[in-house]
Amino acid sequence: MTIKILMDTDPGIDDAAALTMAINDPNIDLKLITTVAGNVTVDKTTINALKIVRFFNQDIPVAAGAEQPLFKDFEDAARIHGASGMPGYEFPTDLPTPLHKTAVEALHDEIMASADPITLVPTGSYTNIALLFSEYPEVKSHIDRIVAMGGALGKGNMTSAAEFNVFTDPDAAAIVYKSGIPIVMVGLDITMKALLTHESIEELPKISETGKMLHDIIINDGDNSDSGIAMHDVNTIFYLLHPEAIKTEDMWIDVVTDGPAIGETVGDIRGAYHDGKTNAKVSVDIDAVAFNKWFLEEVRAIKN
Ligand code: RIB
Ligand code: CA
Repeated sequence: MTIKILMDTDPGIDDAAALTMAINDPNIDLKLITTVAGNVTVDKTTINALKIVRFFNQDIPVAAGAEQPLFKDFEDAARIHGASGMPGYEFPTDLPTPLHKTAVEALHDEIMASADPITLVPTGSYTNIALLFSEYPEVKSHIDRIVAMGGALGKGNMTSAAEFNVFTDPDAAAIVYKSGIPIVMVGLDITMKALLTHESIEELPKISETGKMLHDIIINDGDNSDSGIAMHDVNTIFYLLHPEAIKTEDMWIDVVTDGPAIGETVGDIRGAYHDGKTNAKVSVDIDAVAFNKWFLEEVRAIKN
C-alpha cells in the first residue's frame, strides 16, 4: 500500500530534493504540495514548487500558503538557498498555475476527502499547519501522523538553541506539538549527520537530467562543509521509506516561544516532567551511509 502524503514546503534546495523523491518513488502517493514563507518569500517558494512539478511533468496540485509567521517577524534563509531559493538550473518556464485556494483550504479539502490515512510532511515552518488546526480542528482525527523536518535536541542552526523551521514560527510549532497527533521529529540531530557527500553529489549528473538538475541546485546550497551538504528535508522521505535506518526515542517535546532560546525544541529526555507522557518520536541517529546509497538509488530509478 502506498503512503499517502501531503507536503508543506518552502523550496528551498533540500525541499526540492525531497519533492523529487516524494514525486517519483512508487511507494509514495504525493497528493498535494502547499507552500509557505521560509527559505525565501512564499511567492518564490510557490514558483519553485511549480518548477519541480513541471520538471517531472506531473499534475500534482500546488497551493500557496502563509506569507508571514503567526506572530514572529519573518526572517528568510536566502543566505543559504540564494535569492531565488533554488538557483543553478534553468527550469522550464511554462509553469502550471497554483490552485485558486489557500494552502489551508487545500489541506482541509484534501484531508477531509481522503478515505485513506494521511501523513503530513512539513519541511518548512509550520505556519500553514497551525492555521489549519486552528481553523479546521476536525481535520486532526483524519491525520495519521506528522513527519516533520525541524527542531534539534542538540545545537541549532539559527541560534545555538533553535533550528530554522521551528525558529521561523515557534508559535506554530508549539501548536503542532500540542495537537495530539503522532509526530516524528526529523531534526538536525540526524540531518547534520546524514550529509550528502561530495562524492555522491558528483555522481548525480552522470545519472540523468534529474541528477544534473539536483547536482546543479545542490552545489549552491550554503549548508555545506568538507564532509558534504545537508539534505535536511530529504530525511523525512527517507524515514517514510526506511524507518529502520533511523533511530527514534519517544519523548515530550516543548517548544520555546520567547526569550533568547526562542524556537528551541526542548526534549524531556528523562521523562521527568510530563507524567511519563510523550508527544513525539524524536530522531536521534541515522545510518548516513545507507542514506547516501538510497539517495543515488532513488535518482537512478527516476526515468527522466
Ligand atoms: O533547518 C533546516 C530547514 O530549514 C530545512 O527545511 C531547510 O529547507 C530550511 O527550510
Ligand atoms: Ca525546507
